[in-house]
Amino acid sequence: MDIKSASRADLESIVLLHKETFKGYFSGELSGPCLTAFYRSILDNPLCCAFVLYEENNQFAGFISGCASRAYLSFTLQIRMVAEMLKACRFLELIRLLKKAVYCRRLGIKAELIAVSVRPEYHRRGVGNHLLSALEKFFVETGVIQYFVFTDVKHAPAMCFYRANKFDEIKHIDLFGFEAVVFQKQLPS
Ligand SMILES: CC(C)(COP(=O)(O)OP(=O)(O)OC[C@H]1O[C@@H](n2cnc3c(N)ncnc32)[C@H](O)[C@@H]1OP(=O)(O)O)[C@@H](O)C(=O)NCCC(=O)NCCS
Repeated sequence: MDIKSASRADLESIVLLHKETFKGYFSGELSGPCLTAFYRSILDNPLCCAFVLYEENNQFAGFISGCASRAYLSFTLQIRMVAEMLKACRFLELIRLLKKAVYCRRLGIKAELIAVSVRPEYHRRGVGNHLLSALEKFFVETGVIQYFVFTDVKHAPAMCFYRANKFDEIKHIDLFGFEAVVFQKQLPS
């Protein structure tokens, strides 16, 4: 396993896997250029991170991304998505995104695991755990003591993955058509 900070050379693989994984969800329906711009802005910001993991023969196995700044999370990153949703008249997705932003503010969320995805052929081989460890190392080095993640209650593997990694399930939110679960995890200070 080769885990490293993502670079621009990894953007295409990240965006393709993101679209496959989150098809049918608001962020999975964004266009390739919008998602590329979104992940590029993560790579360019020192308060955000993205890690990629390659298996033998340089096969892309998965990625994780996170952000340690609420200001950046709720504004800079999402402004691109809002613009695209308005352009494509995707008003329901826009309302979901705004409702999620309201909850982030209400819950005092400062740091967030934005997305983690492992290619199906590499599931249950510890790839997710390796990616999560890299993210948490970044968070600890950045001074984050707790972080959050939103996931769909129907994502059974993700629910198991977060529970296995000692996240606390703190809230269920109705995002107009799907139920999001907010998980929280404390980190050593
Ligand atoms: C969630 C996900 C990232 C897990 O990745 P992974 O590489 O398979 O996870 P790991 O192999 O590191 O699993 C770690 C532990 O999580 C739990 N776990 C993970 N997947 C599970 C599943 N399908 N069923 C039950 N437990 C599971 C297990 O306890 C596992 O340890 P074990 O294999 O020793 O029993 C992967 O299933 C995925 O990409 N899902 C689609 C994307 C997604 O839902 N992302 C989360 C929303 S942001």
